[in-house]
Amino acid sequence: MNISFAKLDLPKKGAYAVFAAQRGELSPSAKAADKKTKGALSRAAKHAGFKGEKGQTVALAAPGGLDADRLILVGLGPVKQLGALDFERLGAKLYGKLAASGDRQLSIAVDDIEGLGIETSEAAARLAAGVKLRSYRFDRYRTKEPKSKKPTLKKTVIMADAPGAARNAFRGLDQVISGVFLTRDLVSEPANVLHPESFAERIAALEEDGIKVTVLGEKQMAKLGMGALLGVGQGSEKESKLAVMEWNGVPDGEGGAPVALVGKGVTFDTGGISLKPGAGMEQMKWDMGGAGIVVGAMKALAAREAKAHVVGIVGLVENMPSHNAQRPGDVVTSADGQTIEVINTDAEGRLVLADALWYAQEEYKPQAIIDLATLTGAMIISLGHEYAGFFTDSDTLADQLNAAAAATGDRVWRLPLHENYDKLINSPIADMKNVGPRGAGSITAAQFLKRFIKKVDWAHIDVAGMVWDDKDGPLYEKGATGYGVRLLDRWVAENHEQDD
Ligand code: BES
Ligand code: MN
Ligand code: ZN
Repeated sequence: MNISFAKLDLPKKGAYAVFAAQRGELSPSAKAADKKTKGALSRAAKHAGFKGEKGQTVALAAPGGLDADRLILVGLGPVKQLGALDFERLGAKLYGKLAASGDRQLSIAVDDIEGLGIETSEAAARLAAGVKLRSYRFDRYRTKEPKSKKPTLKKTVIMADAPGAARNAFRGLDQVISGVFLTRDLVSEPANVLHPESFAERIAALEEDGIKVTVLGEKQMAKLGMGALLGVGQGSEKESKLAVMEWNGVPDGEGGAPVALVGKGVTFDTGGISLKPGAGMEQMKWDMGGAGIVVGAMKALAAREAKAHVVGIVGLVENMPSHNAQRPGDVVTSADGQTIEVINTDAEGRLVLADALWYAQEEYKPQAIIDLATLTGAMIISLGHEYAGFFTDSDTLADQLNAAAAATGDRVWRLPLHENYDKLINSPIADMKNVGPRGAGSITAAQFLKRFIKKVDWAHIDVAGMVWDDKDGPLYEKGATGYGVRLLDRWVAENHEQDD
């Protein structure tokens, strides 16, 4: 999607979107268009029962008196209540409506709106961000899609009184969106294409963005004693990897201890010897979603040259059954020396994270760690697909995450940690076992991770319900959502970034 900014003007072709406030009150541009069409716009609005409610639209094809091929009136609802995220959704909605309409261009007239709580330029930038986010499509393997189903809309012109200010406001958003798109690409790829080795290669390509990338293979990880991570990958033909990305955007390389983002990158989760049932197993290609978010967030930070010091660490493994695979009952030793009885080879994410979390602390002594993982099906049972659940002992970190979620729309909900849950993963033969009883499955998984955290502020975000959606969402077409990138970017920006 090509996005540009220009002065308010009547477009010569394509779709032309104008706004109306509540009760259908037309914006100045809408009024002007109505006049040009000799009142056809307001007549159409009346006949369609258009009340100017938020997201309500009415369209005129081939409007007489205008060069544009289509005129669309979009309702804003009560203007005072509109925030930045509402404009993103409006932009996305417009894109969704027009994507395959035949129009190649969309021009949106963003007049100064009285009583609006945000700057017009910010509203304009957010409209653009919404269009762009919604325009993402993963169609590289669709060779026979009929042309009529393919999007025609290629160009969006956002028109405002001060297009320069809007363009500037959009730049930062667009840089973060490049990270969101990378995450969506990674999550969408099938597991025969994106496996630990090829995933590591894609991460290595981020060197071009100024990110320092180090990839550890099995030999190096064995040397470090990462028996927990390696046990998960030992049934796979593909070599397990630990990929480390470092972004230091603090001037003069200062910035002290970094913050660490750690991700679960199980490129396919069959369950291993504790094999999953066949129905729906294809979904487990996105069991690398946590790693996908971390990689996308690193790209976003580098793209906007964040003045922050951040390391991203992802454990990349494929969980397969084979004659080499680890068995239920095996005892493995993690890099920090703790022993784990592997009761269920399908509770593999926590094993991967145990060693990745150790590495983050050992190598970087970070100020704070956030890990992200599609860790438990139980998460989807408790929160569905609306909120990711998170766990932390730090109220400060919890406040920070809640604030970043509110600002970006990537919703999170805090769930408890408690020593009584921790007891549930004691093992009679080793220091711990990798599963607890049936109840509170997401919490016992978090307690397991906590056993690998020393003295550092840490939060675990279980994104099992968030990285993929089987239906269209407000800012994405069905499939990979890109959830989490904006959350992490915002968290870094608000709490770990130097001011200009
Ligand atoms: N990757 C799964 C969790 C998952 C399931 C994510 C469905 C998204 C959708 C994880 O590795 C897993 O298999 N967890 C088990 C844990 C159980 C064996 C304690 C689960 O949730 O069933
Ligand atoms: Mn599993
Ligand atoms: Zn898994």
